[in-house]
Amino acid sequence: MNDDLDLDDARKRYHFALAPEDYERLPFYSALLGQLEHDDVALGLLAGVRVEQRNPMLVLAALQLAGLKGHPVLGAIYAAARGGELEEPEGAARDVLAVIRETPDVIGDELWRSTQTNEPGRSAVIQAVVRELSVTSAAINVIEVGTSAGINLCFDQFPVRKIDDANPLTLVCDDVTPIDRKSPLPDVAMRIGIDPYPLDLANDDDRMWLKACIWPEQRRRHERFDAVVASRPSWPKATVLTGRALERLDDAMTLVDSNVMTVIFNTWVAFYLSPEEQRDYFNDVIARCANNNVAWISVESTLIPVPGVEVDEAAHVRGASQVVAAAPRSAPVLWGWCHAHGRWLERVTTS
Ligand SMILES: C[S@@+](CC[C@H](N)C(=O)[O-])C[C@H]1O[C@@H](n2cnc3c(N)ncnc32)[C@H](O)[C@@H]1O
Repeated sequence: MNDDLDLDDARKRYHFALAPEDYERLPFYSALLGQLEHDDVALGLLAGVRVEQRNPMLVLAALQLAGLKGHPVLGAIYAAARGGELEEPEGAARDVLAVIRETPDVIGDELWRSTQTNEPGRSAVIQAVVRELSVTSAAINVIEVGTSAGINLCFDQFPVRKIDDANPLTLVCDDVTPIDRKSPLPDVAMRIGIDPYPLDLANDDDRMWLKACIWPEQRRRHERFDAVVASRPSWPKATVLTGRALERLDDAMTLVDSNVMTVIFNTWVAFYLSPEEQRDYFNDVIARCANNNVAWISVESTLIPVPGVEVDEAAHVRGASQVVAAAPRSAPVLWGWCHAHGRWLERVTTS
């Protein structure tokens, strides 16, 4: 093993990977992380990852990926975890650790990747704000910045309910806004995504990696992801532009139907931009809204300041995501707050 690796740092990273409230609901991941932090091979794998991805979740996703690719031991354990059928989490964690110790390259060879997500729950938030922004528009274009696999470009394809039902595509959202969810959504003329590293659900490797990054014990998320994959071919087509937001927004604007309002949206993307890029991106979109038939929806952490919009300290403390919106020819305003995965949504009080 390379003596320069900082195993103590890796141990701390495994130890603090889950929030205390996760231990009970994720018994398998809790047991696994508890064993990884005491094993030199597992510590060496994490310590050897480039610093910006030195996250235990990368190792955990690489393990699930190996299972999805057909590893006999990992395949059976992870399938049982996803199905809620893992009876002995501690024993399963021991078996996973044995695979790591015997064949560390099975995991090590995948650690060049970056953890990647695309959360459909955020479509519940996009639907609500789009309804309000488009009250007088029968059709809109959408441009999603940071589109990942483009799932939320089809935000209008998901049923949203307060209580779950048998449909795996249903998004459960405790929406306490005055928005009428029964009112029709506008037609979407063009759907354009922008991302420097877009993923394609039709590509086996991209699809498996996205699934591997969903925690196995989050059964509902896996069921929804599988249902999205199955439904995507029959959903409306989207155009994806590879590149950073500021490089591709002009190109995206030339592709849209100029007769209808364009809604630009970004959900949990700003963290990936440097502070300068965040500021330039926000100012660029704000200027487009001020002068054109362009609206904006931004769903981001309260840690990321949007020019001209004050952060609500109480929302920051309770970990809410901040929903900012701008109507065409208007400045952005704080619209409301939501759960990071869209499980609840509140509208700021308007007088
Ligand atoms: C946490 S994911 C969120 C994906 C999606 N918006 C969602 O809510 O599920 C962040 C995405 O932003 C993308 N991204 C990173 N830098 C970007 C940039 N400069 N411009 C546009 N997208 C970027 C990443 O590649 C990744 O797909």
